[in-house]
Amino acid sequence: MSEEQRALESSEFEVQSSTSESEHFELCTANVELSLAEIRDGLSRPQKELPPKYFYDERGSRLFEEITELPEYYLTRAERALLEEWMPRWVGDMRPRAVVELGAGSGRKTRIILDAMVAGVGKLYVPVDISEDFLESTAVALRGEYDGMDVWPLVADIGGVLDLPRDLPDPVLFAFLGSTIGNFTPEAAIELLAQVRAAMSAGDRFLLGVDLRKDPGVIEAAYNDSRGVTAEFNLNMLRVLNAEFGANFDPAAFRHHAFYHPERHCVEMHLVSANDQSVSVPGAGDFRLAAGESIRTEISCKQDRASVEWILAGAGMGIAEWATDDEGRYALVLATAERGR
Ligand code: AVI
Repeated sequence: MSEEQRALESSEFEVQSSTSESEHFELCTANVELSLAEIRDGLSRPQKELPPKYFYDERGSRLFEEITELPEYYLTRAERALLEEWMPRWVGDMRPRAVVELGAGSGRKTRIILDAMVAGVGKLYVPVDISEDFLESTAVALRGEYDGMDVWPLVADIGGVLDLPRDLPDPVLFAFLGSTIGNFTPEAAIELLAQVRAAMSAGDRFLLGVDLRKDPGVIEAAYNDSRGVTAEFNLNMLRVLNAEFGANFDPAAFRHHAFYHPERHCVEMHLVSANDQSVSVPGAGDFRLAAGESIRTEISCKQDRASVEWILAGAGMGIAEWATDDEGRYALVLATAERGR
């Protein structure tokens, strides 16, 4: 048994953490410094930007769950149907002994994979997520539901350096679902997937969910829902920054704006300032916004087979399976590690 496995086994139920309390405090302080630097940098650019990870406090996660149920937001339903259709066969062929899921989410999609896995030899699930609280509750829930399933949560920001475990019982199925890959620029997506590739052995597989290019009207409706849930989700970022960093954003002084950029094949979500205003983020600075000026809060890039191939190739992977729904809205991709990395 490797050091890593031993470390993981010794803390079965707990979220992985190898630091003492004082080290933990220093790490938190360093993380706050990094976050403030990132916020300062983003709000100092000609096109102001903030990273989408700040959508997700508890309220933001709940709003996102609501988005996934909206009639306009086809993505989650399309992916779920594809997982139900293909997982029994793909998991049955591969017989993974462990699943590592990046950005684990609410666990609804995960259960489709775990259901297919329990029919085989798989007994280990490693959810990777930035939210420690969320991981803890997922671990407890899944252990209760899946008798004999080990759950080893790993706290990590998928937008940064991932320290993915390398000595898991193989073959390992790595998964990145929900089309979250679209929230990365193609270059950043390659960087992220190269880290997954580096943790893969020859028999491992990588499962990816991607939203496909389609009628821009359909895409724009998914990000401008009639009930205004996406607008609330977008504005929630300002509440998160106020709560976490003591910023003084007034959400009522901003409005949600989302549009599809056909040349870049990306939706952009913005928060548009209603008037000339100045906002302060203690430790990061004061920032002026003119009326009509916006902060970009998210990109959501849409793919086709060629763009997925390009990203995977850049990370050292190739497509083994490609499945889409009948309307060609969404794709589930199974990739292998190519040699030479
Ligand atoms: C998490 N991510 C894949 C969602 C998306 O569609 O890009 C986030 C989202 N933003 C607005 N609605 C949903």
